[in-house]
Amino acid sequence: MKNILIIGSTGQIGSELTMTLRAKYGDSNVVAGFIKGAEPKGKLLESGPAEEADITNPAQITGIVKKYKIDTIYNMAALLSATAEAKPQLAWKIGVEGLFNVLEIAGEMKCAVFTPSSIGAFGTNTPKDNTPQDTVQRPQTMYGVTKVTGELLSDYYFKRFGVDTRSVRYPGLISHVTAPGGGTTDYAVEIFYSAVKGEVFKSPIAAGTFMDMMYMPDALSAAIKLMEADPSKLVHRNSFNITAMSFDPEMLKSTILKYVPDFKMEYQIDPVRQAIADSWPNSLDDSCAREEWGWSPQYNLDTMTKNMLEELNIKYLMK
Ligand code: SER
Repeated sequence: MKNILIIGSTGQIGSELTMTLRAKYGDSNVVAGFIKGAEPKGKLLESGPAEEADITNPAQITGIVKKYKIDTIYNMAALLSATAEAKPQLAWKIGVEGLFNVLEIAGEMKCAVFTPSSIGAFGTNTPKDNTPQDTVQRPQTMYGVTKVTGELLSDYYFKRFGVDTRSVRYPGLISHVTAPGGGTTDYAVEIFYSAVKGEVFKSPIAAGTFMDMMYMPDALSAAIKLMEADPSKLVHRNSFNITAMSFDPEMLKSTILKYVPDFKMEYQIDPVRQAIADSWPNSLDDSCAREEWGWSPQYNLDTMTKNMLEELNIKYLMK
């Protein structure tokens, strides 16, 4: 990885991934790709090159790849699960047609491609506990349909055209930097904002609904570690199960209560998000990622909670 393009650099993952890659590979070697209406600001804009990179516009992406001699593309453009249910056509256009554009360009210009998949790539007939790496993938959501299609397309381009495609199935990602939007697992981020503001949190997800989760520093290191992995060790490519923790709203509440003793939570179930959550695994088996490229998360529920609260307290004290 010498010259890197991040498509979707202002999103929940992209914003932090861009800064992490700039610190590692040099500011000028990492191009922040954005779309109109989601332009980079502050450090993201000032620390390195930025270009409009609409995944539905292949000529624009090709132009950037040529201009900066890009050899690696992190394709972080996507709609999250609940938004994708509201806008299924747009979710397909970005998630599948957009990926197709990227893979075609990568084949022609010899780029490696990282595209996230998700726990959303599984469905109700997938084994729910310790979900295996290779198992039934029949998701009921448009988000899941785009993720499974993306996994298949990426593997196809690797096998047929030799494009160096790699991917992880991200669980819910928790971060204090850029808020997610329209995801089923977003409650596990929003709850921390309520806790530091002293507000009662209304959980849209029911007690007893377990989902895999991960703190953002681990999610970033997973993407980079996989892209740096020795290709001869990779039995799988698109896409690896990875996880750091699995919890339900009650477990998360109890952990927050250790640090914010007067924190309060009520339930106000969102039927769309609850149905999506019910169709996803409780916990993934990520042993293939551990064996093939040394995946190992640093944060568990307790250390993540402590760090999230500390960081958000600093953010709000400074305001
Ligand atoms: N965080 C995602 C969502 O909830 C899952 O990959 O949509």
